[in-house]
Amino acid sequence: MKKLVFLTGAGMSAESGISTFRDSGGLWEQYPVMQVASIEGYEANPELVINFYNDRRKQLLDVKPCEGHRLVASMEKDYDVTVVTQNVDNLHEKAGSSKVIHLHGELMKATSSINPNDSRCIVTLPEDNPVIRMGQKAADGSQLRPFIVWFGESVPMIEPAIEEVMKADIVVVIGTSLNVYPAAGLLSYVSRDCKIYLIDPADVRYDRSLGITHIKKGASEGMKELIAEHIPVRHE
Ligand code: APR
Repeated sequence: MKKLVFLTGAGMSAESGISTFRDSGGLWEQYPVMQVASIEGYEANPELVINFYNDRRKQLLDVKPCEGHRLVASMEKDYDVTVVTQNVDNLHEKAGSSKVIHLHGELMKATSSINPNDSRCIVTLPEDNPVIRMGQKAADGSQLRPFIVWFGESVPMIEPAIEEVMKADIVVVIGTSLNVYPAAGLLSYVSRDCKIYLIDPADVRYDRSLGITHIKKGASEGMKELIAEHIPVRHE
């Protein structure tokens, strides 16, 4: 089977009703990003940050995968698929994708404030009460915090993601402004004969020498065009 790697961002979940970060009306227009999404911000005011993610997590319980997520998952019938996502929602998994690498963490998980990547401290929050409270402890006795990679923190999943991109026959980028590194740097690891597609309604800045085919549509309509006109699938 050919290897197909998706690299997705906030635009992948826009049609599910989750706002992106840098579009007009995006999350970073409503909140000071460094106050709610950086390690300094968390250390300065853990309660404000914990409640910011409690609100985002509650919002997640009311949204469903869009057709784009479902079409991404359906590609597993014909390809060896890996989804590398910058998104912290679980919509790829809910749509049926079985191999998802989360570069920036997972909203439904929580971890240690001392060593966020200590696997013994990473827990999944209950869907019926997905909140973290001040005073709630991780297994190492530290304050339980969101399992999110904040600005200023390392991105431990970037190495496995690079491995996947290097082996890809096809890479499909969906819904990311390619603004944030190291995620945005993944395209520099594609092999010479890897075919790259970009699905995004906007003019995303990217390395023109990569010979990218830009499908200038939203995630769902773009995935339909990708399947109909660019990458063969044996059965619908
Ligand atoms: N379908 C596809 N793409 C869309 C859609 C849609 N319906 N709507 C918007 N987009 C595109 C926008 O044109 C833009 O290129 O999605 C992209 C969203 O870009 P950002 O808001 O910058 O989101 P993202 O690239 O995922 O941000 C990367 O930044 O703030 C950090 O950690 C956060 O993971 C996030 C990272």
